[in-house]
Amino acid sequence: MPFNIIRADITKVSADAIINAANESLLGGGGVDGAIHRAAGPGLLEECRTLGGCRTGEAKATKGYNLDSKFVIHTVGPIWRGGRNGEESLLRSCYRNSFELAVKLGCESVAFPLISAGVYGYPLREAISIATDEAKKFLNENDIEITMVVFDRSSFDISAERFTDIRRYIDDAYAEEQKRADGRRTAFSNRAAAAAPSALRRENKLFAGRLKASESVCMSENVCDDLSAADMFAERDESFSQALLRMIDERGMTDAQTYKLANIDRKLFSKIRGDTHYKPKKQTAVAFAVALKLDLPETEKFLAKAGYALSNSLDFDLIIKYHIAHGIYDIFVINEALFRFDQTLLGQN
Ligand code: APR
Repeated sequence: MPFNIIRADITKVSADAIINAANESLLGGGGVDGAIHRAAGPGLLEECRTLGGCRTGEAKATKGYNLDSKFVIHTVGPIWRGGRNGEESLLRSCYRNSFELAVKLGCESVAFPLISAGVYGYPLREAISIATDEAKKFLNENDIEITMVVFDRSSFDISAERFTDIRRYIDDAYAEEQKRADGRRTAFSNRAAAAAPSALRRENKLFAGRLKASESVCMSENVCDDLSAADMFAERDESFSQALLRMIDERGMTDAQTYKLANIDRKLFSKIRGDTHYKPKKQTAVAFAVALKLDLPETEKFLAKAGYALSNSLDFDLIIKYHIAHGIYDIFVINEALFRFDQTLLGQN
């Protein structure tokens, strides 16, 4: 997946290069800097001593030593002083210079912590959006895997109002689903009560069991409500990848535009293009629906070609529905929300 977000200790992440939030001396410190030096061992400090420091916004590389990475890219973020001292452009250049250095070193993957968001006091929300924005811009021009490494849940957040909005959307959908399930149950028991009591008791028990089972199928896949069998079969001749390629053409999009918007890498896309019966994972199929900016009914139809549906009983599905219903198709924004709700991200895994 070109852009991923994970919760981890960066010293345990295996990427060709990991980025260190250092200070200008490059002689180690606390936070992630201290953790990387401890995990890499004394060789790292010895090499850092030869670099003659590093200016804020710039990046210098060393070997990875005992880390599971070939390189450590040391960059120095700005100290937050209120936001009117060029902090944003310095932070942006930290990421840009570090990503460029990673590509120059031949890296195919690079992982970074939230530079300046700790001791240097950069406001978390801005630090995240600057990092995401610089990664997005870099991925438009380069094929490399970039991973944002979040140390703990509290050091990652989406805006409070977006979080509450999504939470409310999920809770309302669950309540709706519950009401429909209760409705199905009452309808059945009224019919049963109206008929002869004796023979029906057995029938009642049997059907209640069947209702429960079918309910769980509907609840989990929601196939019963959103798509009739006719729908499913009417277009069965067009496969998922055929529909994908057709819609790319219909929108006048290029392959590269589509897979970058879907957070899918070129290799996987060419596999899908070459295989009419390719069976994508759900988060890949949804990622393409987002890249194509499909509305909800179009998304349901498109996903059904890969055997998936968006239910009203899974957080992942409801977060996707929330963003499509609100016309939010930026996969980085959707992935931040999915990460915040502990869900699988969109793209390929
Ligand atoms: N893995 C991933 N992320 C981490 C880890 C870790 N092991 N440890 C800390 N972080 C996160 C913090 O939660 C924060 O979000 O890294 C981000 C950056 O925090 P700092 O390490 O404090 O870096 P920064 O804010 O850029 O301050 C740099 O602190 O450690 C000193 O020598 C360093 O002087 C420099 C200053």
